[in-house]
Amino acid sequence: MLNDDEVRQLARVHELLAGEIAAAAGWISFERFMELALYAPGLGYYSAGAHKLGVGGDFTTAPEISGLYGACVARQCAEVLRALGGGSILEIGAGSGRLAADILARLESLGQLPAEYRILEISADLRERQRRCLEQRAPHLAARVRWLDRPPDAPFDGIVLANEVLDALPVVRFRWYADRVEELGVALRDGRFEWASRPASPAVADECRRLRATAGAGPDDAGGRNGAEGDTGARDTGAGDTWDDGYVSEYCPRLGAWTQSVTGALRTGAVLWFDYGLPRRHYYLPERHEGTLICHFRQRAHDDPFLDPGLQDITAWVDFTRLAEACRPAGFELAGFCTQALFLAGTGIDHEMRVIAGDDDHVFARLAQQARQLMLPGEMGERFKAMAWLRGIDVPLRGFALQDLRHSL
Ligand SMILES: C[S@@+](CC[C@H](N)C(=O)[O-])C[C@H]1O[C@@H](n2cnc3c(N)ncnc32)[C@H](O)[C@@H]1O
Repeated sequence: MLNDDEVRQLARVHELLAGEIAAAAGWISFERFMELALYAPGLGYYSAGAHKLGVGGDFTTAPEISGLYGACVARQCAEVLRALGGGSILEIGAGSGRLAADILARLESLGQLPAEYRILEISADLRERQRRCLEQRAPHLAARVRWLDRPPDAPFDGIVLANEVLDALPVVRFRWYADRVEELGVALRDGRFEWASRPASPAVADECRRLRATAGAGPDDAGGRNGAEGDTGARDTGAGDTWDDGYVSEYCPRLGAWTQSVTGALRTGAVLWFDYGLPRRHYYLPERHEGTLICHFRQRAHDDPFLDPGLQDITAWVDFTRLAEACRPAGFELAGFCTQALFLAGTGIDHEMRVIAGDDDHVFARLAQQARQLMLPGEMGERFKAMAWLRGIDVPLRGFALQDLRHSL
């Protein structure tokens, strides 16, 4: 059941989307639909007030599951800050603020606090929640936190990190045929949004051909021997050259420009991306013929983006090969790519469990359960990946020491 505020917001988002569709002669791209549903000023899912994360929200992320996650990310950050002799952290999309609070608390105990912890957050509502969370969990460190309205211009040294943000960037959705490519967009029929296709523009069609070619072109072992395929059903042959007629998937055209805008000012240091996704050759497997769109509403995941736009999260898995294509030309060196499970093992989650639990067996048992949720292959362990880029320094990263999937990109 929607409350009155939600019903009103739904009506306004519907009106906005319907107006755009009418103004565009009955069709808008899915990329535009997703952009408006998530980011329309004052109305989109991330721009308007909604509970979103954690218990009572729409989805639960790794930092919400356990403080172990932030502790492990902090240990990775400490290693980089130590090598740099200090620096700042910029977190993009900080959700409830839990990750920031956990990172800062652990960095303090490691004697490696950043000069400043900056947060670039698009949602005014979540900014407020982050402020409250930091005041509550780490009041003496809250003064180190600064919210930014836009990516920093001034060069800085340190770390840029983002957990589960890339998956929210709007995607182009396409349908492939041997003799043509269609772009899937959105039309309105009897007041309801529905999928509608049209011939893809030359730019979209070219990009789909490039994806198909590069999805089938990677090295033979593409993670298969490292257990990276997890629930992906990956095989050791390329994927893209086997798309059947009617194959539907998506790609994120703005990934490059967006990542460059948020990492551009990093002079020396590391960028850490955490998200669910795959290397391209696993992403575009023939059996994943309906793409990877996932929507979240009140802890329920489904694949219908037209259900209550503005009130639900809409996401797509990250093509980590595309992310690599975006970061490499920007002067970053790919320093690591692995599953979340192996990142947490490499950063010492077992040690962190002992640190947090002390002698308390009950706390240890609770943490062990949380660690299973973060690490088991059927939970978050393999679907989620960690990727690290370095600029201007060369430092071994403990989080990526146990598994190296860079060759699979
Ligand atoms: C799925 S939540 C993840 C939150 C948090 N990182 C966590 O793991 O719990 C996505 C977060 O990114 C923010 N966000 C989404 N798109 C953004 C953008 N383009 N720029 C900055 N923040 C963004 C959202 O408001 C939200 O805080």
